[in-house]
Order: sequence, then C-alpha cells, then structure tokens
Amino acid sequence: MKIAVTGGVGFIGSNFVRFVCKKYPEIQVINIDKMTYAANPLTLEFLSEFTNHTFMKLDICHATEIKEILNECDIIVHFAAETHVDRSLANPETFLLTDILGTYRILEVVKNSRSITKYIHISTDEVYGSIESGSFAEHSPLNPTNPYAASKASADLLVISYIRCYKIPALIVRFTNNFGPFQHPEKFIPLAITNALENKKIPLYGDGQQIRDWLYVLDTCRAIDLLIEKGEPGQIYNVSACQERKNIDVLCKILKALGKDKNLIINVPDRIAHDKRYSLSSEKIQKLGFYPVYDFEKGIDETISWYVNNEKWWKFIKNSPEFQKYYKSRYPDL
Ligand code: NAD
Ligand code: TYD
Repeated sequence: MKIAVTGGVGFIGSNFVRFVCKKYPEIQVINIDKMTYAANPLTLEFLSEFTNHTFMKLDICHATEIKEILNECDIIVHFAAETHVDRSLANPETFLLTDILGTYRILEVVKNSRSITKYIHISTDEVYGSIESGSFAEHSPLNPTNPYAASKASADLLVISYIRCYKIPALIVRFTNNFGPFQHPEKFIPLAITNALENKKIPLYGDGQQIRDWLYVLDTCRAIDLLIEKGEPGQIYNVSACQERKNIDVLCKILKALGKDKNLIINVPDRIAHDKRYSLSSEKIQKLGFYPVYDFEKGIDETISWYVNNEKWWKFIKNSPEFQKYYKSRYPDL
C-alpha cells in the first residue's frame, strides 16, 4: 500500500510521516513538499532513517507531475498549505494559490483516479471563526475572518462540492491548534520557547486573553490514523483537545518551565481581526473511539524538551535571511 502525504516536511506532516513509517513499516510513504520557507531541510534528516519513506520536491499546483505521482497511490493525506495567519494578512496571494488551487489540483486527480480509495483533507478550526462560548460542530456555518482561514474554508467548500458532484472518497478533518516538535518558530509556542532560550523578548498580541484549544501533534496523527481506517467518506470530523488556554497563561507556563522571568514578555499591537476564541466539539470522532492521550502539561513539557535538545534545527530557521527579514519587518526594535 502507498500513502501520499503532501506537505510532509512541515510541522504536522513530518510528524505524521514519522508516525506512519514507524507504525506501518510495510506501507510506502510518498512525501510531496515544495520546500517553501516553512519546510526546514533538516527535518528530512530526521526522516532519512525510514526505508519506507520517499521524498519528492514538488509544488502541488503543478497538475501534470502531481497527477503522475498521486495516481500511483492508494490514500492521500493532504497537509500542504500556507499556514501562518500573520503572513496571510501581509501577503494573501500564495495562500489562494496553494490552499485553494493546490487543493483543486489534488481533487481533479482523485476524481479521475481508480486507485485512490481515500482522500483525507486536512483543515482547521479557523474556518468557523471565533466563538464566545460553547463549541462549533461540523454543521456550524463557516465564518473565516482572515485570508488564511478564508483560503482554507474555500478549499473545504471545493472538497464538499467534489464529494457531492463526483462522489469522491474524501473526508475533511478540522483540528484545533497543534503544538509539538518540528513546528516553525514563527508560530506562538515555538517562538515563545526559542525566544526565551535566547533571552529575547516574546511578543504577546493585544491583551493576551485570546483562547486556543491546544492539541498535541501526536494526538493529531492518531486521529488521522483512525480516520484512514474508520472515517466515513463524505463526512467532516472536528478534532479538539478540550484543553483551552489563554495565550498569556501559555506564555507564563513556558517561562516558568524554562526558569525565565516574565519581563521577557512584551505587549505588542493586536493582530488585525484577531479571533478571540476557537472551540470545537469532537463528539463525532469520539463516537469512532478517538480521545487525545496527551494532556497540555505533558505535551508542553515534551515540546520544550525537544526545542532545548534540537537547537540546531530551530537555529537553522531563525538565523536564515528569510526569517530575519520577516521578523525585522514586524519588530524592527526587538
Ligand atoms: P506548515 O506551515 O508547518 O507546513 C506546511 C508544509 O506545506 C511545508 O512543508 C511547505 O513546504 C509545504 N507546502 C506549502 N506550499 C506547498 C505547495 N504549493 N506544494 C507542496 N508543498 C507545499 O503547516 P502545518 O502547521 O504543519 O499545517 C499542516 C496542515 O494542517 C495545513 O493544511 C493547516 O491548515 C492544517 N492545520 C494546522 C494546524 C496547526 O495548528 N498547525 C491546526 C489545524 C489545521
Ligand atoms: P499562532 O501560533 O499564529 O496560531 P493561530 O493564529 O492559528 O491560532 O498564534 C496562536 C495565538 O498566539 C494567537 O491568538 C495569536 C497569538 N500570538 C501572540 O500573541 N504572539 C505571537 O508572536 C504569535 C506568533 C501569536
């Protein structure tokens, strides 16, 4: 059996590739990634120990090459995307290209394929927008509030249209915020850990009272594994951790664990249209038997240890001209 994973050098994708390669040595994993700024080439060194892993540098928007490779596979798990909200506010075009056009390219292959038995489309809680109290269910209306979320919501709608029109064997899975090893240090938790390790200021947007529901990345991998086996084509599944935390509390926890002072926190202007709270109900996937096994405390300890022990990995990104330029443009004085 062959599984194609798109975006398998990114954060969740690379954790998933490792998870599958370890658990199912008999399955061939074809990892398709364009190697954008978000993919660290050092991640590939961590995957090189697996003989059932093959890497292919490829843009999912390239119809011909994508068709050739995906047509040889049985299952597709599609992670590849532009993913950072702040970058989508500054430059949305790549989000429209990869997240929407890229998904369309894959859907066309699935539509015309006789070998692909399941297409797992990876989506996000951000498509529902913010919720003051309670949690969104799979049938809740989409209400994206930034270009990243809008591009992911558009991709979801395309998938739904292909399910309805062409009966493709697709399902959509929407996760809450993930955290864990191999996450790019532009994102909140790895930025906080690595800045703290470097004794640099950590930007906290607005009042820091925003709430995210933090799901450890290995639980995400377990959920996808379960959906490959038991997920019903045509369905949407939410996956949350039921571990809501305010940003300020996450930051204080990280600083305490690293023995650093709270004066490293610097309040910066809020993100435009910042979603106050994301929350999903996971009752539907729970009925298939899924529950997260990592609580936030265990997950954050493992994440911190990983960044402490893998300085070479994150310094490769943080010292790159691309990251330096990005960070300087946001925070010229930090
Ligand atoms: P990431 O930014 O860490 O990785 C994305 C990967 O996709 C990178 O390796 C990049 O090189 C690759 N990529 C980008 N454009 C490509 C293209 N045109 N062709 C091929 N490869 C391309 O992202 P992530 O955080 O691992 O997120 C993975 C998926 O999970 C995304 O679809 C995202 O929307 C979704 N998601 C993420 C979270 C989260 O908290 N990180 C939560 C819910 C859903
Ligand atoms: P992020 O990791 O960008 O994920 P998302 O926007 O998908 O939730 O941000 C998580 C939260 O942390 C979000 O409320 C924005 C906030 N944040 C900061 O306060 N400071 C930062 O430097 C970053 C990157 C995010």
